[in-house]
Amino acid sequence: MRKLLPLLSTNPHGGGRSALTCRYRCGDACFHAVPNTSDNEYVGDVIAGALSRRSMMRAAAAVTVAATAGGAVVAQGGAQEAVAATPRTPAKSGGGARGLRFTPVAPNTDDKVTVPEGYAQSVVIRWGEPILRGAPAFDPDKQTAKAQAGQFGYNNDFLSLLPLKGERGRQVLVANHEYTDEMLMFKGYDPENPTREQAEIAWAAHGLSVVVVQEEHRSGRLTPVTRHPLNRRLTATSEFELTGPAAGSPLLRTSADPSGRTVYGTLNNCAGGTTPWGTTLHGEENFNQYFANGSSATDKRYGIGSGATERKWERFDKRFDVKQEPNESHRFGWVVELDPYDPDSTPRKRTALGRFKHEAAQPRLTADGRPVVYMGDDERFDYFYKFVSSKRMKKGGSRAAREHNLTLLDEGTLYVAKLTGDSPGQIDGTGKLPSDGEFDGSGQWIPLATGDVSHVPGMSADEVYVFTRLAADKVGATKMDRPEDVEPSPRTGRVYVALTNNKDRGAAGKAGADEANPRNNNKHGQVLELAEHWDDPASDGFAWRLFLVAGDPDDPATYFAGYPKEKVSPISCPDNVAFDPYGNLWISTDGNQLGSHDGLFGVATHGERRGELKQFLTVPAGAETCGPIIQERRVLVAVQHPGEVDGASVEKPASSWPDGPGKIVRPSVVAVYRKDGRDIGV
Ligand code: FEO
Ligand code: CA
Ligand code: CA
Repeated sequence: MRKLLPLLSTNPHGGGRSALTCRYRCGDACFHAVPNTSDNEYVGDVIAGALSRRSMMRAAAAVTVAATAGGAVVAQGGAQEAVAATPRTPAKSGGGARGLRFTPVAPNTDDKVTVPEGYAQSVVIRWGEPILRGAPAFDPDKQTAKAQAGQFGYNNDFLSLLPLKGERGRQVLVANHEYTDEMLMFKGYDPENPTREQAEIAWAAHGLSVVVVQEEHRSGRLTPVTRHPLNRRLTATSEFELTGPAAGSPLLRTSADPSGRTVYGTLNNCAGGTTPWGTTLHGEENFNQYFANGSSATDKRYGIGSGATERKWERFDKRFDVKQEPNESHRFGWVVELDPYDPDSTPRKRTALGRFKHEAAQPRLTADGRPVVYMGDDERFDYFYKFVSSKRMKKGGSRAAREHNLTLLDEGTLYVAKLTGDSPGQIDGTGKLPSDGEFDGSGQWIPLATGDVSHVPGMSADEVYVFTRLAADKVGATKMDRPEDVEPSPRTGRVYVALTNNKDRGAAGKAGADEANPRNNNKHGQVLELAEHWDDPASDGFAWRLFLVAGDPDDPATYFAGYPKEKVSPISCPDNVAFDPYGNLWISTDGNQLGSHDGLFGVATHGERRGELKQFLTVPAGAETCGPIIQERRVLVAVQHPGEVDGASVEKPASSWPDGPGKIVRPSVVAVYRKDGRDIGV
C-alpha cells in the first residue's frame, strides 16, 4: 500500500513547493524573515499552574462531558485524565470506516488526477470558462481584462456548494481565486515589464466566482450553467464594504475613500467557510505581496516589503504603493462574507474578525444559536483565533431573518489561542511522544477586543482589529506551525486545525519545539484536535491534542491517533480540511515533502478506526489540492496551480493538464464519483 518515493524537491525554501509557487502565491514568504519577532512565551515555557482555579474546574467538567459523549476523549491539562487506548482492529484490504471504503491511491508523480479503482472524474470548470452573459469563450492568445471579468478566475482554492431551491439537480458553486501566476498565463511574460493589460487581466482573474452547476442524473458529474442569474464574478476591482467595529476608522481611510468603508477588490482569497445562514466566508491571505514600499513596523509585522512587488501593480494603480497610500493595505487581510443568493449584494469585509493572513474561517453555532468562527493565520509562528458573536442566528428564509443574519459577524469578541502542554520537559524536538503517550494539553482563549472595547493594554479597539497580529503578540498567544484550514466536526463538535509545516521551528533565535508543535525543522506538519470546555464553543478554555503528526509512517516521528502505522497512507503538509457525511475528516495537502504529488486523504476521527488515513487522490505536476467538498455522491477538489514548477512558462509547460499536450495548463475544479453510481466510500 505504501511506497516511499525518492525526495524530488530541490526547492531552496526547504518546502515541497516550487519557487514559482512561492513567488506568486505568497510573495516568497518563506524566503523572508519570520514576521513574528515578538518574544512572547511559547507553550514549553508555560506551566500548567498558570491556569486559574476556575478554568481547572471547568476543565475537569469538560473531561466528564467529553467522555460521556463517547469516542476518544481529549484529555485536559488542568485535570489530567489519561485516555485509554481503544483496541484496534487492523483494516482489511478494501475495508475501512463507512465513507472511507476505497482502495487507497499510491503516492505518485503522474501528471493527472489519480483516483481510486472504480471511480471516475470530470472537470467541472476551468480557468477562463465564460460564466456571465456576454463573456467570450476562452482564448489564451487573445485574453482581455473584460473577457476575464466574465470568466472563471485563475487558481481556484476554497470551494463551497450551496443548495438551490426550486431548480432540480442544481447547486451553487462558490470558488476563491487565490492568485495569478503570470508566467503560466501569458506567452512571453516579462516579469520586469508587465503591461497594463496583463495587470488588469490579473486583477480580473483574482477574487471570487459564483456559478450554478447542474448534476448529471446518472453520475456525480457537474457542469456549469452559464449565464444563470446567480452567476457572478468579484475581482480585485469590485466594490466591497468594510463593516463592524473598525469600519470607518482613520486607519482604514484613503484619499479615494475618506469614509474608510468602501474598498475596491478582494485579494489572495485562500480557504474559507460556509455559514449555517447560507453565506460564504473567504480568507484574504497573503495580501502583503501586492503592496510596494512598506516601511512602518506594522507593515513589517504583516510582511509588506520595502521595495517593488513581484507583479508591479503599483505602476498601474498608486493604491498598491504604500508610500502614496499608506492605509490601502489595511483594507486587505480580512474575512469577506458573500451572499451568493443575492447577486446584487455588496460583499462585506468583517473587521470584527481581525486582520491577519486569513487562511480560512469556519463557523459553528453555540447552544443558544450564536456563531463562533475559527480562524488560522498562515505564517510560521503565527496564531490561531476565534470570534464569538453576541447575536443569535435567526432561522427561516424570511427577508428579515436574512438581513439580521448578515449582521451576525459584526458584533462579538475576538480571541487568540494560548496552548499549554501537559508533558513539560519531555518535548525534545524530534517528535518523540512524551511518557503520557500523547502531545496534548489545555488552552485558553485570550480576548483581544469586544466591539469598541479593547482588552489589550496600550492598543485601541481599532488598532486591535487592524493590527491583530500585534495585539496577539502582546497577550502571549502561542506561536504555531502555520495554522491553515480549520473545521469543526458536525458530529462531535471537536475542531480540527491543519498546521502545515515550519522549517524554522527550533532554528537559531526562533521558538523551539513545544507540545503542540513538537518537531524542530517541521517539514510535514500536524493536525490539532481541539475540544471546547463543556463542549461550549463560546467557552474561554479548551483541551487539545495532536490528532496526526504527518510524514512517512515509517518515520518514528509520525503519529496517526495511535492507529497502526502500517495501515495508513503517508501524508505531508496538511492544508485544507473538510468533513464527509459520516464524520470522517478529509485533508488535502500543499507541498508534499515525500516526493509524491499532493493529494486528498480521508481519515476516521472516531470509533475503532480513528486515525486510519487513506489517500483518495493525487493531483498533476506542480499542483496543490484545494477546496475539498465531500458529498454523498461526489468529491470535489480544486486543482490549484497545476504546472507551477520552477522554470515553467506558457512556452515551456511542466504539465499538460487538463486538456493534453499543446493546450495551456488551466487550474480547474474536478468532480470525482463512483462508476457504479453508488455513494462515495461505502
Ligand atoms: Fe493559501 Fe495558507 O495557503
Ligand atoms: Ca502529553
Ligand atoms: Ca491553503
